[in-house]
Amino acid sequence: MILSSLVFAAVALSTVNAQDLGVPLSWRKFSTDRHIDERIALSKAAIDRIQQSLDTSNAEYSGIGFWQSANVYAPMALHDDLSGTTTYQSTVTSMLTTAFSQNAHYDKYQYNDDAMWWASAAVYAYRTYGDSNLLNYAIDTWTHVSDYVVTAANAAAGSHPLKSYSLAGSCDGQSMEGGVFWRPTSDDQGINSITTGLYTALSAHLADLTGDSKYTDAAIRSANWIKRLNIRDNIVLDSVNAHDCSRSPDGWRFTYNTGKFIEGLSILTSVTGDSQWDTLLLNLVATGVKNGPWQGSDGIITEGASPDSNNDGVGFKSVLIRGLIEAYRRTQNQSLSILIHSYVDVQYNALLDLASDGDNEYSSAWAGPAQAYTTWGQMAALDVLVAAIVANGIDG
Ligand SMILES: *[C@@H]1O[C@H](CO)[C@@H](O)[C@H](O)[C@H]1NC(C)=O
Repeated sequence: MILSSLVFAAVALSTVNAQDLGVPLSWRKFSTDRHIDERIALSKAAIDRIQQSLDTSNAEYSGIGFWQSANVYAPMALHDDLSGTTTYQSTVTSMLTTAFSQNAHYDKYQYNDDAMWWASAAVYAYRTYGDSNLLNYAIDTWTHVSDYVVTAANAAAGSHPLKSYSLAGSCDGQSMEGGVFWRPTSDDQGINSITTGLYTALSAHLADLTGDSKYTDAAIRSANWIKRLNIRDNIVLDSVNAHDCSRSPDGWRFTYNTGKFIEGLSILTSVTGDSQWDTLLLNLVATGVKNGPWQGSDGIITEGASPDSNNDGVGFKSVLIRGLIEAYRRTQNQSLSILIHSYVDVQYNALLDLASDGDNEYSSAWAGPAQAYTTWGQMAALDVLVAAIVANGIDG
């Protein structure tokens, strides 16, 4: 990428009326002139700061939960991937190994989504460092979670061998094939977009990295579940009950459901070349970044702003940014690249101008104000700081 901010701005103006990929001019500061070296240094400083919270005995960071800790290792590996460095190789590799050896299939608390956050971090780390142990952790987790995917035969039979209740084979007239159970416990009835989206993206990554079509087939089956059952107005919805088809409240429209599916779709597009996934991706990105309920007209994400205490929602927005960057790296569509670049820079400038005092510590409230260090605020900021390395070109 050699586009300057000036070119980005000019193209943004000229595409305002095109196909929904134009950059809204109401967005706050959608470019940066910080040099690549400075962007790498800012990302590194933020990552280094959170290491003070690391408990190396269990690979978790104090102040955030088990699944959120995996979402520190993901941007650490991506930082090295995008910077061409190996700064975090030993920490990421040893900590992903510690967590895997202490928790079979990375499943500490019997949540399939938790396990796959760790497996996803292992995939990014394998892609960056090439250590086959990391790939094996991801494949082991994928194999485990695959037992909790609804097959066509399960849907037809109205039952699942690992579930104690009768299974709704279809909901709203659509087959439940490809949906992934949130939890492995026999009585839990939830199937949701984050678990199914994580499985879609993990499968697609494994297809991309190994060339084995069993992963491609799995990714397609689960992507189709989300596509058929759980998207409204181009926003990915949350959950469907696998016994009675009841749905999560309409207001449960979270960044990470759309973001994780965008990641899966971008890989699926490159692995299959099937344009249906690219079309869906374009629709989800355009709607998510411009009309998602999680940002104001200035474009700054407001979801999960929590200065005083950690909660699951704090880090959702980092998953959207991570998914957008996967799409940015793979797309051929320059309008999409510019839109993602601009959206990332809105968040980047908000973090630097509004959510930090310039001390490399970031609030989970991206629109500000700055505050003292919290593990959760720091964790949520990392993907933006990493994304800005690549989303502004790598030569300046
Ligand atoms: C990018 O995608 C949009 C929306 O589908 C389309 O209108 C546009 O022509 C595409 N641009 C390029 C350069 O492919």
